[in-house]
Amino acid sequence: MTGGHDSSLFAIEKGKGMVAYRLYATSILVSTCLIWWYRATHIPSIGEKGRWLWIGISLAEIFTGLYWIVTQFPRLNPIYRHAFPDRLSQRYSDKQLPGVDVFVCTADPTSEPPSMVISTVLSVMAYDYPSEKLNVYLSDDAGSVLTFYALWEASEFAKVWLPLCRTYKIEPRSPAAYFSNIHSVPDTCRTKEWYYVKELYENMVIRINTVVKKGKVPEEVLANNNGFSKWNEGMTSKDHPSIVQILVDGKGYDAVEKDGIALPTLVYVAREKRPGQHHNFKAGAMNALIRVSSVISNSPIILNVDCDMYSNNSKCIREALCFLLDEEKGQNIAFVQYPQDFANLDYYDIYGNSLTVFMALDFPGVDGWGGPPYIGTGCFHRREVLCGRPYSKDYKENWAKGVARISGDTISDMEEGAKSLATCTFELDTEWGNGIGLKYGYPVEDVVTGLQIKCRGWKSAYCNPKRTAFLGLSPTTLEQCLVQYKRWGEGNLQIFLSKYNAFLVGHRKLRFGFIMCYYMYGLWPTTCFPAWYYVVIPSLCFLQGISLFPEVTSIWVLPFIYITSATYILSLAETVRFGGTIIGWWNFQRMWLIKRITSFSFATIDTVLKFLGWSEMSFSITGKVTDGNSKKRYEEGIIEFGSDSAYFVIIASVALFNLFCLVGGFGALLVNKEMERINKFFIQGFHCAILVVINLPVYEALFVRKDNGRFPFSVLVASLGLTMLVVLLPL
Ligand SMILES: *[C@@H]1O[C@H](CO)[C@@H](O)[C@H](O)[C@H]1NC(C)=O
Repeated sequence: MTGGHDSSLFAIEKGKGMVAYRLYATSILVSTCLIWWYRATHIPSIGEKGRWLWIGISLAEIFTGLYWIVTQFPRLNPIYRHAFPDRLSQRYSDKQLPGVDVFVCTADPTSEPPSMVISTVLSVMAYDYPSEKLNVYLSDDAGSVLTFYALWEASEFAKVWLPLCRTYKIEPRSPAAYFSNIHSVPDTCRTKEWYYVKELYENMVIRINTVVKKGKVPEEVLANNNGFSKWNEGMTSKDHPSIVQILVDGKGYDAVEKDGIALPTLVYVAREKRPGQHHNFKAGAMNALIRVSSVISNSPIILNVDCDMYSNNSKCIREALCFLLDEEKGQNIAFVQYPQDFANLDYYDIYGNSLTVFMALDFPGVDGWGGPPYIGTGCFHRREVLCGRPYSKDYKENWAKGVARISGDTISDMEEGAKSLATCTFELDTEWGNGIGLKYGYPVEDVVTGLQIKCRGWKSAYCNPKRTAFLGLSPTTLEQCLVQYKRWGEGNLQIFLSKYNAFLVGHRKLRFGFIMCYYMYGLWPTTCFPAWYYVVIPSLCFLQGISLFPEVTSIWVLPFIYITSATYILSLAETVRFGGTIIGWWNFQRMWLIKRITSFSFATIDTVLKFLGWSEMSFSITGKVTDGNSKKRYEEGIIEFGSDSAYFVIIASVALFNLFCLVGGFGALLVNKEMERINKFFIQGFHCAILVVINLPVYEALFVRKDNGRFPFSVLVASLGLTMLVVLLPL
């Protein structure tokens, strides 16, 4: 450990086993070069069958090898950070700690149920942090009275929930997560008071869900609470004025809990929406929150979390502050990023959603080159930096900053002031969305914002403690999952092709390794090209008797075997080491393939079309609500194929095509049992067989399953047609 002496608030540890890893990486590199050499020296001569296919597979292998080299950069230089919150408490009394504004963003009460949103809100309100320093803002981009109703209920419930958390040291502090897992609650907790709060919570959730189902807030609530008067008949989610309501004023007296301790400030914000006015999605919402909060609390630290991502560690703020408040090494840290972890991953992880290995190995590597990217949730920012401040050595943050409340200023005065900052027109002719706040115009606004901050001279820190700090929800249907990866892939490629390409904006300012880390994300979707080549051409050639690989008795098979086995063994070992299962790993391999031939392909096509200026011609694929049984199937590890999107036609066609090639290719080998032929086609046959085995669940969903998650008949017909077309292609 370096810098672990007594005064530091955090320590940095270098990764272990790097020599072994470098040896491994070198061996892969050597094998890759051998394969390239083999490809270059064995090209079929002009006029021979398969010459172009050979050149094609060589290009695919060159691309794969080069991309692999890029992906090695985050692996070469990992660092691990440890915070010392105890030292923070010794050095700063509660009074001296900086204020923290927590932003929670929600966009749609149907796909993000208000009862879930308020559990996240309650979990962050219950942070172990002085309440007068903590301010929670909920941005509701739907401007929905239902979400407001739920938040109002939550503000009442907080008065009993927060004291209970404190008394019984409850973890996690999301009531939904806590009460859904009560068999782990010790008996000493199960007092009368505890049962009382549990019942209050359950009744509240029932009330909220009823209101959401009906789509209407009860008359008696409307009559007794003038907060609801801001909604009227004519308002829609796309057309309404800005609404700012301070539900709890943490500095006033109405905020007192049962036992006389103040609650954190709680604010509901719905920025103005008007038809025809572009709202810039989440980036727009975040920027509105930055401004609104600046007149209510103006805390120097901003934490933002997605509405499905509850806090699983009430001490997390103190931990994150260690990085930002350290006088020696923390001065240049702009933000502290926590990993994205999911609460709903299970044993099977059928959609390969777990990012654990990636978060455990790649992000520390990026940290070693200058800090992780900002990934849009679970991140602590300095307000000043988000607002565009460049790094300078002499700058010292004023942690005591906050809003000086003018005496006599009422809540409604503040609300009025804040409302004017959340209008559609406020940002016109300003630097918001460009030099100030989150950047507009990119599907992954967070990544490009983080990059811009780095270019202003700041670093960032990655904090991945054993005890998970935030737990979110991963998609539970295949379609949602693929749509999400398309958006990620598209966003990163778009940045790569824009003026925010890490090399263009960052040469001279950023380290080379750091730029390569960004390229790893930026070029991610383009890996669809070699993937397509590899799922189609070798199998088709197997069927048609064209050999593309060395004979199995030749020495040249060795680099192929070595690369394949070494990389798969390593990835399996890494999965298991970080708590994954073997079956989860296997499912991940299937999803790896599926994401490349669907999400990433569409992402690449869309981005390139946009880049060429044909942005109208975009493939848009929308998710579809699935039936009630799909949740059960998810839990049983059964994949959901039940929709007729283009994605599913592709998945089914590739699977059927490989099955056809396998059967046909083996048939041909059986008819003509020459040893030489078998040697020649062994690798291709094996490759095709693996593709078939990995697609077993697809065949099951095509031919065997009877539930609603199987492929629709139309997809079966379309994919059979496509398969026939392709296998008949004369090569
Ligand atoms: C969430 O926090 C609890 C402690 O409250 C811990 O036992 C659990 O492991 C955490 N969850 C994850 C996924 O790390």
